[in-house]
Amino acid sequence: MAEIGVLGLGVMGRNLSLNLADHGYRTALYNRHYHVTEAFLRQCREREPSWRRLQGFREMEDFVNAIERPRRIVLLVKAGEATDLTIENLLPFLDPGDVVIDCGNAHWLDTIRRERELRRREILFVGSGISGGESGARFGPSLMAGGSRVAWEKIEPIWRDIAAKVDPQTGEPIEGAAPGRPVTGGEPCAALVGENGAGHYVKTVHNGIEYIDMQLIAESYWLLKHLGGFSNPELAEIYSRWNQGELASYLVAITARILSQPDPRGAGYLVDQILDRAGQKGTGKWATDSALALGVPANALAEAVFARYLSSMKDARLQASRCLESLAVRPVDDPRDWSEQMRQALYSAKICAYAQGFQLLRAAQEEYGWRFDFATIARIWRGGCIIRARFLNTITSVYQRNPDLANLLLADDFRAALHRGHPAWRRTVATAVLNGLAVPTLGAALAYYDGYRSERLPANLIQAQRDFFGAHTYERIDQPGKRFHFDWAGGQQETAVE
Ligand code: 6PG
Repeated sequence: MAEIGVLGLGVMGRNLSLNLADHGYRTALYNRHYHVTEAFLRQCREREPSWRRLQGFREMEDFVNAIERPRRIVLLVKAGEATDLTIENLLPFLDPGDVVIDCGNAHWLDTIRRERELRRREILFVGSGISGGESGARFGPSLMAGGSRVAWEKIEPIWRDIAAKVDPQTGEPIEGAAPGRPVTGGEPCAALVGENGAGHYVKTVHNGIEYIDMQLIAESYWLLKHLGGFSNPELAEIYSRWNQGELASYLVAITARILSQPDPRGAGYLVDQILDRAGQKGTGKWATDSALALGVPANALAEAVFARYLSSMKDARLQASRCLESLAVRPVDDPRDWSEQMRQALYSAKICAYAQGFQLLRAAQEEYGWRFDFATIARIWRGGCIIRARFLNTITSVYQRNPDLANLLLADDFRAALHRGHPAWRRTVATAVLNGLAVPTLGAALAYYDGYRSERLPANLIQAQRDFFGAHTYERIDQPGKRFHFDWAGGQQETAVE
């Protein structure tokens, strides 16, 4: 009998199945189109003996019956309607106590609903965020599970086995998994993060941070290129160097690789031939929607999403570039110094990016009744996922020491880093603005930092305006706890409002 089943053999499903087989799990496979299953199995059998543990089925009923009870069935189908349809088709064959695990990029509200519906039928439902793209699924992803403890206990050993691992001493991801030779030992990047939709929510916030991180790096690349005058090999060298220090992360590492990639179709570099129009599947927007709904000022997140929207308006930008005045870009005098300033700016802004992500998690747990352990979330993001970064070790220990910390910006380690980095950060943003280069997330993160640390903001004027045109009332500094309205038209009368 199979120990687990995987339903959906797209690239993620295939890679997760191989990961399971590498870890010794007898795995049943099902795909809507049987020829996909057949082709995959044929490929597997020729390559690696351990992959004989994979067994494919033409009929869904046979697939379900081949799994030992209580069954564990992983769904890797398209998020949305396809997931509902698959669950509906699966249900007649399931028994009470079986566990269905949705590993798609589902919206957390769908997961909350599905968990509730399946619970009524005594089926356990886990919404597990999975990050790391295809190679993560294959050799060790970060797994953010949401569901009941009973459900989690049924999948925990498997989830810990197949997840990415980090070295417990250094906190660095353990690399080197190969077909048939998975990484063993180390701390697994897998955990139960909360009930029902919590796993998918955490994954959505992960993606929100991913959007900010990517946009920040893109802005830094643009400023180094246009103001620092660096060539692609020099840029690659700079990011490789940064990847040795506090900015060490998967996204910085791949940026260095990307920048050094020659164009396979001719002279020059591939990056220069790629159209500047960024796509998106929507999770960044979900994270932003949630920030707006929960009243969390995640402005860098919103800007990162808007920056992708703006980038995709290529035709409009092309037209506007011909009729709106542009500035002559004046390269800096000292490119080496500029790159160091840029490094500090990037690190400072990155701290704000993560601060906004964790603030979002904090607000969401109130809204949805979850109880997040932020240290655990930071811990399981240290390996396998797209935002894995050395400084997640610092975030982990900050939250271990103080789980109730109001905002990451206030942690000693980050306060010190921001204190060191903010002058350079201001210079990079100011220089970019003076040269007409858009830096929406570097600028937004800086505005967040400056706003958050300001005892007073100009919102007194906003309150006065609201009261002026709509009698929306205001509070007075010298009379706390009461609300007032002023008769702005008449000019004299201030009344206390009950
Ligand atoms: C991950 C990624 C992944 C995401 C892609 C594309 O953690 O492995 O977040 O889940 O789907 O990165 O996302 P966009 O198309 O929205 O950029």
